Amino acid sequence: MQLSVIGCGYLGAVHAASMASLGHTVVGIDVDQAKIAKLSAGETPFYEPGLDEILRTGLASGRLTFSTDYADLADAEVHFIGVGTPQRRDGQGADMTYVDAATAGILEHAKPGSLIAGKSTVPVGTAARLTQLAAREGVRLAWNPEFLREGFAVKDTVDPDRLVYGVTDATHDEDVATLDQVYASILERGTPRLVTNQPTAELVKVAANSFLATKISFINAMAEISEVTGADVTQLADAIGHDERIGRKFLNAGIGFGGGCLPKDIRAFAARAEELGKGESVAFLKQVDEINLRRRQHVVDRVVDSFDGPVYGHRVTVLGLAFKPDSDDIRDSPALDVAVQLKGLGAEVVSYDPEAMDTARNAHPQLNYAASLDEALEGSEAVVIATEWKQFKRLDPADTATKVARPVVFDARNILDPTAWRNAGWTYTGMGR
Ligand code: UDX
Repeated sequence: MQLSVIGCGYLGAVHAASMASLGHTVVGIDVDQAKIAKLSAGETPFYEPGLDEILRTGLASGRLTFSTDYADLADAEVHFIGVGTPQRRDGQGADMTYVDAATAGILEHAKPGSLIAGKSTVPVGTAARLTQLAAREGVRLAWNPEFLREGFAVKDTVDPDRLVYGVTDATHDEDVATLDQVYASILERGTPRLVTNQPTAELVKVAANSFLATKISFINAMAEISEVTGADVTQLADAIGHDERIGRKFLNAGIGFGGGCLPKDIRAFAARAEELGKGESVAFLKQVDEINLRRRQHVVDRVVDSFDGPVYGHRVTVLGLAFKPDSDDIRDSPALDVAVQLKGLGAEVVSYDPEAMDTARNAHPQLNYAASLDEALEGSEAVVIATEWKQFKRLDPADTATKVARPVVFDARNILDPTAWRNAGWTYTGMGR
């Protein structure tokens, strides 16, 4: 099929390249000229495993192109909206500027009878509003949320655990048939496909992210209790995780969640619920957010406490800047936040991340970035493991001790073996263990 994807960020670029890898002809459109030039040259604007390969294959096949001109989507049968919905500068709600601009751009050039499939995470009620605008141009609109995780974005797109189509009664059959054609090869594998109305599809996404955020904050709340009782939250998670109804996934206590989705999505959902007069229904999300933010502070406080006086002038190593491993994304990253806060307290912070150094440097040029892991450890008086990269998990405690000035480690992701590190002479502090 002929497809267009509006927005070539994390979501859109992956979706465009993935759809081309399924055999479709795809044009990716973005207003950012530099991004389009990079993608057209086969360079990924961010780190995402597997994306390079499908991008290059797509370009080479001629089925994948990128453009800054909306006119290039005129032949497409389906237009995916994959632009960002960041947190508003002046509040907690979602900034809809890009979704609205993308819709306007599509409607200027789309052929009547084509379908807009919204993928961006939006406040419930958005699809209904946009459907009316689209109908005036004879264009249909469905909501087709995306559940991709960074680091697994390509896999999650070409092999998702479910597909959700949010459609209107008026165009139900046509919309389902069109989307089934787009995802034919995925559906053939027996992937569950749920057809819902538009508000349900919009809610599925925010409800899923709210649930995941709540699960993480739940175990971090248990970490807080563990810290004052001598319990071990990791063992607690293992034990409750054996209950199939609870499950062990997303029960890793630590420094909390970050990224471009969970933090802003729970805030936008709470703001939307307020608008709907149902603020109390999701009031717990505020506590989920607060527990999450307390974890960053907890790490900073523990590091400060480890020195006799102020942290000022002490050399602190922060290992990890990305909000999670296998990503160079630093949006709302707890790791970066901890580095920035310690720097603000006057510590001599040295950071290192296998992939996120450039993105972090752009956002926070005031931090000191080491060229290598060894350089970051050199002369360190406190090491904070802030992102669970494999390289950090594999650190040898005895060898690492020879590089630092003071063997004090804060395992903010609970990925090290406390016994092994203590036996090698380290003062080890985990999160809730
Ligand atoms: C998330 C959702 O998982 C995905 O379905 C949605 O489409 C977008 O938002 P992503 O932001 O890529 O994906 O990251 P995810 O893997 O969910 O992790 C989010 C944050 O939670 C990370 O900072 C991670 O380190 C943290 N986390 C995750 C924990 O602190 N503990 C856990 O047990 C799991």
